[in-house]
Amino acid sequence: MKLNALYTNVRFPALFWPDSAANAFAIENGVLTWVGNASQVPTAQLASFAHHDAGGAWVTPGLVDCHTHLVYAGHRAHEFASRLSGVSYEEIARAGGGIVSTVRATREASETELFDRSAPRLEALLSEGVCAIEIKSGYGLDLDTERKQLRIARKLARAYDVRVCATFLGAHVVPPEFSGRAQEYINEVCEWILPALYDEGLVDAVDVFCERIGFTLAQTQCVFDKAHTLGLPVKLHAEQLSNMEGAALASTYGAMSCDHLEHLSSAGIAAMKAAGTVAVLLPGAFYALRETVLPPVPALREANIPMAVATDHNPGTSPCLSALLTMNMACTLFRLTVDEAVLGLTRHAAHALRLESGYGAITVGTPANLVMWKVHDLAELACHFGGVPAHVTIRNGVLR
Ligand code: NIG
Ligand code: FE
Repeated sequence: MKLNALYTNVRFPALFWPDSAANAFAIENGVLTWVGNASQVPTAQLASFAHHDAGGAWVTPGLVDCHTHLVYAGHRAHEFASRLSGVSYEEIARAGGGIVSTVRATREASETELFDRSAPRLEALLSEGVCAIEIKSGYGLDLDTERKQLRIARKLARAYDVRVCATFLGAHVVPPEFSGRAQEYINEVCEWILPALYDEGLVDAVDVFCERIGFTLAQTQCVFDKAHTLGLPVKLHAEQLSNMEGAALASTYGAMSCDHLEHLSSAGIAAMKAAGTVAVLLPGAFYALRETVLPPVPALREANIPMAVATDHNPGTSPCLSALLTMNMACTLFRLTVDEAVLGLTRHAAHALRLESGYGAITVGTPANLVMWKVHDLAELACHFGGVPAHVTIRNGVLR
């Protein structure tokens, strides 16, 4: 049931609500209708709402996880063990493991099975206050399996009443049956798979893995041209393992975001700045692969490029189901400030997905997506790891 409620004794971070006198908010039929000081609750109607003393909780927008590969079957724990013994992610991929092994398992799983495996992953993220999430395909690499993944993204949105952006990542790697024929696969993606899924209303955005073990710049360009023709926004897995100058290319298509970016060049930074492209940092993958080259955070900061932070949940490089742990890693590994990390999982993540107003912000007049954190200091969201502070989530106007 949509909330009618008045919450008092809350605190708003200046990042999200500059009026320091505000300590209360009201929700009417699920919509945030008022924020202010408890001494000025506006109408008799508000006064008659259920009244909750939040005990000094800090209020943030609901968290936004703007980069995940949540829908897949199988597992890759054995690769974790191999990497520990010195085999690299690229070597595993070249030997037929990695993404391709998840593709095999995902193709074999029925839609019901895949939904049942994916739902608990979503539940884990929602339980930490996530209110919007991006979910990519890319473990199908054929029409039927890509469709199956994207349909599940849509079903999860309905089943959990959560805002989901479905991203087509058909150009993740070359599928085994096209081995040695990458361009032919790209043609198939552009002429057949992407248009069909677009026609079925399953695609909100288009992504490519531009990398030595993914696709070249020219192949990325083919997919982006098709996306443009269909009017779909693009984003890119860019400069994760090497500098392909993918960010510069993506920026010429007005990319919503470029993600990973460990090897981002200064030309890439300039292009992203000019295009208004968000930098999505993925410390989970950096950590799991024990990378040593950091994304150029000081240069991104200097250029005023918005930095988002996401879990990149996937079975290989980031089997992480915690937005708060990711926030901690963004600070500890990438040296983001607490404010940057909090904005990275709220405002800037919402912008990376070009979400409607009300996500990633505290906006009166929009459906309430808020978290009330029972912490003394907002920095506790980022400084703890391995535990989640007590909190209450209001997602799409409903108390969860
Ligand atoms: O974001 N880099 C490519 N894609 C994923 C990894 C997917 C996988 O290894 O299954 C990523 O890290
Ligand atoms: Fe990814």
